[in-house]
Amino acid sequence: MTIRVTEGDITTVPVDAIVNAANNSLLGGGGVDGAIHRAAGPELLAECRLLGGCRTGDAKITRAYALPARYVIHTVGPVWQGGDRGEADMLARCYWRSLVLAADYGLKSIAFPAISTGAYGYPVEHAAQVAAAATHAWLFSNPGTGVEDVRFVCFDILATSHYRRAVQALG
Ligand code: APR
Repeated sequence: MTIRVTEGDITTVPVDAIVNAANNSLLGGGGVDGAIHRAAGPELLAECRLLGGCRTGDAKITRAYALPARYVIHTVGPVWQGGDRGEADMLARCYWRSLVLAADYGLKSIAFPAISTGAYGYPVEHAAQVAAAATHAWLFSNPGTGVEDVRFVCFDILATSHYRRAVQALG
């Protein structure tokens, strides 16, 4: 079981599932959401329209169409509001729910972007710590699910350095 951090464009990563940092409508947006929809093609939006949206902290799965991944897991992170509105717990739920879906679908590899750290304003150092701790906790409290390759794919050097430090701190 590995958790690793790479810098790059998540739409190019050939894993079983990439995770999309979506919004509650699931009807596309900017940032990684926009990149994923552009790379997947219009069929992704057509499938998303059938899902009826997604609550913050929850996750839903679709096919990946023209992407190299097999599935896209759409999750909706919290908007940062200063840190005392339950944002950390909600962000952790995004990772847990995505991992549960990956396990339910028998997937082995999953790649996450730095959820909520762009338009949603979550401070990247804290988000990285929440992401690493939540993922590590889920993997070690759910042994034998088959999910064994977890990646954080960061789009810039700052996020990459914070996610690397957070994963290294897991020991
Ligand atoms: N690959 C990997 N990471 C990416 C990519 C990419 N191609 N493009 C952007 N990112 C990174 C950003 O640099 C940021 O670190 O994804 C992280 C999350 O940023 P956003 O995409 O802005 O997502 P978020 O902060 O969760 O805000 C979600 O933005 O795009 C809209 O529809 C989306 O309303 C939702 C909101």
